[in-house]
Amino acid sequence: MDVERLKARADEISQKEAARLLERTPKSKALFERAVKVLPRGVASNFQANDPYPTYLERGSGSRVWDVDGTEYVDFHGGFGVNVVGHAHPKIVEAIRRVADRGIHFAVTTEATVALAEAICERFNIDQVRMVNSGTEATMDALRVARAATGKDRVVKIEGSYHGHHDALLFSVVPEADTLGVRHSVGGEAADTSGAAYTSTPTSKGIPKSMWNDTIMVPFNDAEAVEELFREHADEIGALVLEPVMMNVGIIVPKPGYLQALRDLCDKHGVVLIFDEVKCGGTIAYGGAIERYGVQPHLAAWAKALGGGSVIGAFGGDANIMEWVAKGAAQQGTFNGNPLSAAAGLVALTEVLTRDAYDELGKMGTLLAEGCQRAIDEADLPAHTVDLGAKGCVSYRKEPLTNYRDFLETIPELFYASFTWMVNRGIFMTPGDGEQWTIAVQHSEDDVRKYVDAFGEFTQELAR
Ligand SMILES: Cc1ncc(COP(=O)(O)O)c(C=O)c1O
Repeated sequence: MDVERLKARADEISQKEAARLLERTPKSKALFERAVKVLPRGVASNFQANDPYPTYLERGSGSRVWDVDGTEYVDFHGGFGVNVVGHAHPKIVEAIRRVADRGIHFAVTTEATVALAEAICERFNIDQVRMVNSGTEATMDALRVARAATGKDRVVKIEGSYHGHHDALLFSVVPEADTLGVRHSVGGEAADTSGAAYTSTPTSKGIPKSMWNDTIMVPFNDAEAVEELFREHADEIGALVLEPVMMNVGIIVPKPGYLQALRDLCDKHGVVLIFDEVKCGGTIAYGGAIERYGVQPHLAAWAKALGGGSVIGAFGGDANIMEWVAKGAAQQGTFNGNPLSAAAGLVALTEVLTRDAYDELGKMGTLLAEGCQRAIDEADLPAHTVDLGAKGCVSYRKEPLTNYRDFLETIPELFYASFTWMVNRGIFMTPGDGEQWTIAVQHSEDDVRKYVDAFGEFTQELAR
């Protein structure tokens, strides 16, 4: 089927399914009407908003969640990649209960926090770590420490990647096609398209103009661009920050040798290499991307799955860089390393998310990805699946993506039709086309089959 017909068909499905969704979620609608009076867009974070209103959840257990209308779903949303332990895992519940009885906050480091730090250092092969409360804080603090250690202000990031909502890295995150920067030399004229970098465009209003010049944009999977940039500007650049696997645009894996080339370039030019493992760290392997791709950054940032569902973040790496925390780089926070998150995180990392668990998550992921790929092939759709441990996705472009600009060639109409279709058939998924599924240790093969069956019906309906 040609693409325009496919889009028209997807729009038809979206409309029909959206009407059905609205009809069966009157309590979500009522809660939205109440919420929007006191919470902008009726939610606590912009990422939780959806049109015309979000599905509000009430509870979760195992692999399932229930919305306020009482509908049961198999949860593949996974709290944006947090819930690799699933919901109400007995070991996590027990750990949290213990803390609730003994004091949930002191703003003093406890033994559990020390044990969690040891578990993180061992797991990710790093010298030292500091705990924070979110992925945003983790990348923000890692960047500050890198700048302190190098004495250099500018930072290189990858076009299309998200590292949280602090100002320094909130540039060119999912830029619209018509605002994409041209390639140009840093400090040169925009019309000079021969250089290594892309123009940085702020992703939010409210970012001071004075910061625009300090965040330099390069494409993913292009070590030559970084090399060219470093040749002329390394004396101004303190850090290169990237997700080793891009997970803000579906999933884009690094080309063989790319991550090692970045490490070598950073070593050569005195730039701190920071891996943002906020999404990868607890999902794609026991030791995250560091283990899966065998490349050690100077610093890395974690969050999400690390806390077993509790509020957490962490960053750490080489001792000779982390020592700047004790030499004037401000790193603090009232809730850092709090007993609740430390206890849940420690049990998650040492008792639930074990090496064996990742073998199982990988098997389940492959079952899911292969099932979806079969459905895509049978319906002859311009799409492909990515299978990466507890993470995976369907991307609506025939060929795999290599960088952000490839993502702009995906067909969002197909994603939006699939989202409403799936949610109406008991599959809870992330609402944005840049997200992925998350598999939990509590998912069963039956849960996966439910996803594959619903998706297969969708692709048949689309191709009909
Ligand atoms: C790669 C990456 N880094 C950082 C963040 C920010 O994490 P948080 O939402 O916990 O601040 C996110 C959030 O989705 C992320 O995906």
